[in-house]
Amino acid sequence: NLISAKIDGEIVKPTLTDEGLTCDVPDMPFMWEAEVQIAPGANTALEGLYLSNGMYCTQCEAEGFRKITYYPDRPDVMSTFTVRINGPHPVLLSNGNPVAAGDGWAEWHDPWPKPAYLFALVAGELVAHRDTFTTMEGRKVDLALYVRPGDEGKCAFGMQALKDSMKWDEDVYGRAYDLDVFNIVAVDDFNMGAMENKGLNIFNASAVLASPETSTDGNFERIEAIIAHEYFHNWTGNRITCRDWFQLCLKEGLTVFRAAEFTSDMRSAPVKRISDVIDLRARQFPEDQGPRAHPVRPESFQEINNFYTATVYEKGAEVSRMLKILVGDAAYAEALTLYFDRHDGQACTIEDWLKVFEDTTGRDLGQFKRWYSQAGTPHLEVDESFENGTFTLTFRQQTPPSTATPDPQPQGIPVAVGLLGPDGSEVMATQVLEITEAQQSFSFPGQEAQPIPSILRGFSAPVVLKHNVDHAFLLAHDTDPYNRWEAARDLGTQSLLMAITTGAAPKPEWLDGVAGVLSDETLDPAYRAYTLALPGQSQVASDLHNGGKTPDPDAIWVAHEAHRQALSDRMADMLPALYARHQVDAPYAPDAAQSGTRALGNAVLSLLTRQDRGDTAQSQFDSATNMT
Ligand code: SER
Ligand code: ZN
Repeated sequence: NLISAKIDGEIVKPTLTDEGLTCDVPDMPFMWEAEVQIAPGANTALEGLYLSNGMYCTQCEAEGFRKITYYPDRPDVMSTFTVRINGPHPVLLSNGNPVAAGDGWAEWHDPWPKPAYLFALVAGELVAHRDTFTTMEGRKVDLALYVRPGDEGKCAFGMQALKDSMKWDEDVYGRAYDLDVFNIVAVDDFNMGAMENKGLNIFNASAVLASPETSTDGNFERIEAIIAHEYFHNWTGNRITCRDWFQLCLKEGLTVFRAAEFTSDMRSAPVKRISDVIDLRARQFPEDQGPRAHPVRPESFQEINNFYTATVYEKGAEVSRMLKILVGDAAYAEALTLYFDRHDGQACTIEDWLKVFEDTTGRDLGQFKRWYSQAGTPHLEVDESFENGTFTLTFRQQTPPSTATPDPQPQGIPVAVGLLGPDGSEVMATQVLEITEAQQSFSFPGQEAQPIPSILRGFSAPVVLKHNVDHAFLLAHDTDPYNRWEAARDLGTQSLLMAITTGAAPKPEWLDGVAGVLSDETLDPAYRAYTLALPGQSQVASDLHNGGKTPDPDAIWVAHEAHRQALSDRMADMLPALYARHQVDAPYAPDAAQSGTRALGNAVLSLLTRQDRGDTAQSQFDSATNMT
């Protein structure tokens, strides 16, 4: 309810509309005042200001601030905020720095201009888990993680993740934190995972609170990643924000990518890459293939909340990653520095973002920009030929048309390629080929024998690769850990599809290859655990569907079981020792080393239970000290 409105101190009577209000205004700068009455307790949309178990909190992205008061609620309207909160609650928080407080009130000031979607307010009975961080500029920042009384014991990990993120953004991107305080609040009722409000991040409790008794290693890793994501928004999202909501990928794609780099540095880079690709294929590829296909930068929307999608976030991150691959690490660092220098304090577009890469490298990114404007996953087919010592790879790209993009044009695709000799040794280290045409060939002269190519190393572009290759050979010899995993997965897929369509037994090459990786003690345990994972049942169903067959869930299940049993039988002799070698004796820590050991130990356990009827599993359960 609008109680009163004033322009330059004079009461005005605006016309209220469904969209907000309209009012005659002076043809010069003026001061607008509005007094409104709202009912947070009746706000069940969880947007604007609402109550969660007696705690007041806010969610204003994308268009929630308009549920609090009348305001030009668009991301390109940036302002400094001063907030005074009156209330009986012991904790009263808002953005920026605390200015003053007394009995039943607190005042906050955020010196950094920001759009209203970054506004936040919290009032409730909360306890703080505190720490401090000293920035590279020597400024001491007070950190606090606010939780409900009783949850104090679940804060330490999140706090450490925050400090690690702050340090990483300084070390890797040269970005320091910019306020005297950084607060995080855990909230039970929250639409999203978390929200990067300036200086006052609000988290879904599940995305920040953890203890060994209640959380698995996977939960801990997810929490670390989400804390990093929200913290990194301070520069990519808050200091530099979006001009309008069509540019959502500008902050989200880049921030997802930055957080992925952080996790790769904190943990295992190949494992992070593999799990991201699994996720991309499971969540984003289906978007691209279905009626919800939309470009990374959509061109129209009825409700922006519907565009917080895997395409905007995860494919958006892939596009940032491809840019880095295309220009190289040094030019990427230079471009990012220019981006922060040139656009600090601004509301920007994808054009601004691409321009810093064009200006630092002299490249024309006109074609690359199609990654932002075209929906659909490009399919990339590869043919090989070998003549007079020259090996040639021919690529054909084709993106299936969609309603969003009926006539897709060729995109710029970075394809990382290495070549292996027939004996398995690497004869050409990774090179990045830039595919720009619908069909394009690359030649590699001077080969003694026909090499075996390892294509799309590290999954250098989000495409569907179609390549007839000896997966068993790559599984045994590829030096690229990602492609080695991919070879195991492709081999597993082939074997499953054969079993489902012809009733064949699991392929011996798959059994040998996976057994080889699992027992290779030179490889990272977390990585080995992933190699054991068969392509999921929905993935197999979609492969069958794409091959013109109607998937039969029972047949898929039976084939999966047969494969697991065959692998367990094939490895039966090694399993007990392999299991014993991958147990953690030290006190529980959710770090990369311990998590990796547990991942492999549990993967081996899943095979072992098929041999010992679950005896080992029972004793592990009985003596467990943690949820993993
Ligand atoms: N802006 C929020 C985030 O992605 C919405 O969830 O972090
Ligand atoms: Zn985000």
